[in-house]
Amino acid sequence: MVYKVPFVNYPEHYRRMWNEVIDAISEALSKGDLILRGQLKQFENGIASFIGVEYVVGLNSGTDALFLSLKAAGIGPGDEVITVAHTFVATIATIVHCGATPILVDVGEDMNMDVEQLEQKVSPKTKAIIPTHLNGRLCNMDKLMAIADEYNLIVIEDAAQALGASFNGKKAGSFGLTGCFSLYPAKMLGAAGDGGFATTNDEKIVEKIRLLRDHGQQRTTGKILFHGFNSRLDNIQAAILNVKIKYLPKWIERRREIAKIYHERLSDITDVKLPPPPTKTTPYYDVYQNYVIRVKDRDELVEFFEKNGVETMVSWRIPNHLHPGLNLNHFSLPKTEKLSNEVVSLPMYPELTDEQVHYVIDTIHDFYEHK
Ligand SMILES: Cc1ncc(COP(=O)(O)O)c(C=O)c1O
Repeated sequence: MVYKVPFVNYPEHYRRMWNEVIDAISEALSKGDLILRGQLKQFENGIASFIGVEYVVGLNSGTDALFLSLKAAGIGPGDEVITVAHTFVATIATIVHCGATPILVDVGEDMNMDVEQLEQKVSPKTKAIIPTHLNGRLCNMDKLMAIADEYNLIVIEDAAQALGASFNGKKAGSFGLTGCFSLYPAKMLGAAGDGGFATTNDEKIVEKIRLLRDHGQQRTTGKILFHGFNSRLDNIQAAILNVKIKYLPKWIERRREIAKIYHERLSDITDVKLPPPPTKTTPYYDVYQNYVIRVKDRDELVEFFEKNGVETMVSWRIPNHLHPGLNLNHFSLPKTEKLSNEVVSLPMYPELTDEQVHYVIDTIHDFYEHK
């Protein structure tokens, strides 16, 4: 089906920088720069200065950024790691793959970890906390870091959806031992396929993650220091990302502009709960990776959108802890469960035209006027 307003628009995204991207790919290919070459270093340095951290390691996904961070931090069997269920499943899966036990906390109104409930989940086995900064808004990091300090817990930020977002002027990925980012195509900064990276200010951790991503090989000596993985970010991807990174501030601005339009024209519908509007005065600087509204009659609204040519997404229809195959159904998370029945993500990406944004808004007005 051809949508009037698709949920993502990759062809238009690339059309706008076609020549630059093709030139970057051609250059890498003609020089034979494919694995761990200059484009990757350039990308890592560019991101480090954008976020304000010492080190960045390019990896093959956000999932691996989480997994290798946990590994580098020494998390393993017998350890508990506190996180949320209202996140992409990879946040939880990587804890399980390390042999550790995920402990799930409910979320608050901002859809992020309810830090008021966090302390009750800390046990003598707790080693780390993974807050997810969902939809481009940070978790309350003041409270979270204070609890982590008090109990001497490692913080690994799942910042897959929050590149460029900040809290009290500090960017996502600069609070914890590491920050884990996804370069999945629809993300704030998307590769032309899979990709990710980890941020840190810790010299030992960056060394460990660099080794983990490359089979544990110390390339200068030829020594294999431990059993590692293959999780390198391809050079071709890095070359493409180096073209895109300069547009990132403009893309963030555009997302905030769209969020403002959504907010201005949807606030009068009492049945629709909106995310906070973009402001510069609160501690939160949101980047609107997703624009998620909450409505009671979600499935009906989604169907109405479909009929009218608007593509939307529901993240997530079944909460992670209620998938029988994941063995997590001993957690009771009422707010997470309620959200799964109410959330719907509206189209949100820099290439959306104002006309398309207004069409989405008009469609919602139409739905509520005729109910
Ligand atoms: C919150 C969150 N965590 C982790 C990931 C995993 O990232 P990737 O798809 O790059 O492995 C994603 C990606 O969708 C995500 O949104």
